[in-house]
Amino acid sequence: MTGKGSVYIVDDEESMRVAVSQWLTLADYRVESFSSARKVLEILDVDFDGVLVTDIRMPDMDGMELMKKTLALDREIPIVLVTAHGDIPMAVSAMRDGAYDFIEKPFEPEMLLETVRRAGEKRKLVLENRKLRQYLEHPDKIENRLLGTSDAIQFLHQEIRDLGPTDASVFLIGETGCGKEVVARCLHEVSNRKKGKFVAINCGAIPETLFESELFGHEAGAFTGATGRRIGKFEHANGGTLFLDEVNSMPLNLQVKVLRVLQEREIERLGANTPIPIDIRIISATNCDPRKACSEGRFREDLYYRLNVAEINIPPLRKRPGDILLLFDYFLLRSSEKYNRALPQLTGNAIAMLMAYPWPGNVRELKNIAERYILSSLPPEERIAHILQHTGTGISTASTSLAEQASNFEKCVIDQALRRHRGTSRQSWKNWPCPPDIEPENAEPWSFQKRLPEFR
Ligand SMILES: Nc1ncnc2c1ncn2[C@@H]1O[C@H](COP(=O)(O)OP(=O)(O)OP(=O)(O)O)[C@@H](O)[C@H]1O
Ligand SMILES: [Mg+2]
Repeated sequence: MTGKGSVYIVDDEESMRVAVSQWLTLADYRVESFSSARKVLEILDVDFDGVLVTDIRMPDMDGMELMKKTLALDREIPIVLVTAHGDIPMAVSAMRDGAYDFIEKPFEPEMLLETVRRAGEKRKLVLENRKLRQYLEHPDKIENRLLGTSDAIQFLHQEIRDLGPTDASVFLIGETGCGKEVVARCLHEVSNRKKGKFVAINCGAIPETLFESELFGHEAGAFTGATGRRIGKFEHANGGTLFLDEVNSMPLNLQVKVLRVLQEREIERLGANTPIPIDIRIISATNCDPRKACSEGRFREDLYYRLNVAEINIPPLRKRPGDILLLFDYFLLRSSEKYNRALPQLTGNAIAMLMAYPWPGNVRELKNIAERYILSSLPPEERIAHILQHTGTGISTASTSLAEQASNFEKCVIDQALRRHRGTSRQSWKNWPCPPDIEPENAEPWSFQKRLPEFR
């Protein structure tokens, strides 16, 4: 949505249409005028992002009838009625029936502008809210599971659509909390293995001694303590997808065994001699640089190349600031429903702080902060500052490069100025491009931007 949104003007008097169009166009609205109610009804739809301003007395279909038909289409389209002096009682009853407001002729331009501004902001909130609800109502679509409107996220959606339906092993690289598991699940969901299981194993969380039996399973008596048969993750995932999370933490001796399974496509449970054929797709993930792990001898190169047939880099949140407010709004909405609390409006200051924060814990951290925001009893204007100061990450905004902070903050100030002077809503954040590619100090060279020069 550009500018302040749309205004449709309906009036049978040409001079009125011209004057009102001029005022509103100068105030940065997209204006279209119509000489009859029928003409505007031909193009109005539920996605209309603006305000309908209509005269009441018109030949053929009058403003009241137009209002009824418009509200039947969408009860939340704001309608401003323009009335002649004698029509006030009619206008008052129209407000009861759902009109947003009325203005009496003759009127000053400022009065119309103020009414249209308020009505337009209400409409934007309605549309924004509907969009967020769509995410909740259709959780299966990739776009609704992996939220974001930045170029980077849209590119990810495309990569998921391209790679998902193949059996290629995919290697996901991204910082903690940035959505690696969400991407892995999306890849599974769009594949033809989606009827099979998605089995995740966190290679960093299993003691080395148990690893082998976790992955391959064992027969009763295979080792001390193995009282019964156990099916391993490889077998569990048969016909589906196995997600090797934090794959770089896999002990070296086990890496050889996993490599062999991938080559031979069969496993043997510990203590058994019968090979079991397996048909799985492997998705792996790491939050560190796998090439460095290979060169330092912590990760086998041959395994790495087998797991990394296709690589997906998930950029950290600070590299896609255009997604911050959308995600925050989304998690606020979810938490407000979960805890049955009112959905609060964010203050300009809170927005500035969210944008300037470097999000070291990425989307997971943002989700937690939205939840704490909903549960906090502090006044809304103090909440974000308080929560961010007590996030427990110990990382201040200084951990983002100065240039990134400045870039995020600059965008924030511009948006606030727009909101003050032209009423642009939070929606506009979604259209931000990624910030310039300024690598934080010591960043590893696996950056998303290197693969995607167009995001620079
Ligand atoms: N784009 C997104 N849209 C909606 N939710 C998201 C998005 N990205 C991440 N999340 C949510 O954020 C949380 C963390 O995501 P996820 O577990 O996928 O991160 P991760 O990269 O696997 O983290 P880790 O490296 O710590 O394992 C989850 O609750 C997930 O649902
Ligand atoms: Mg994870």
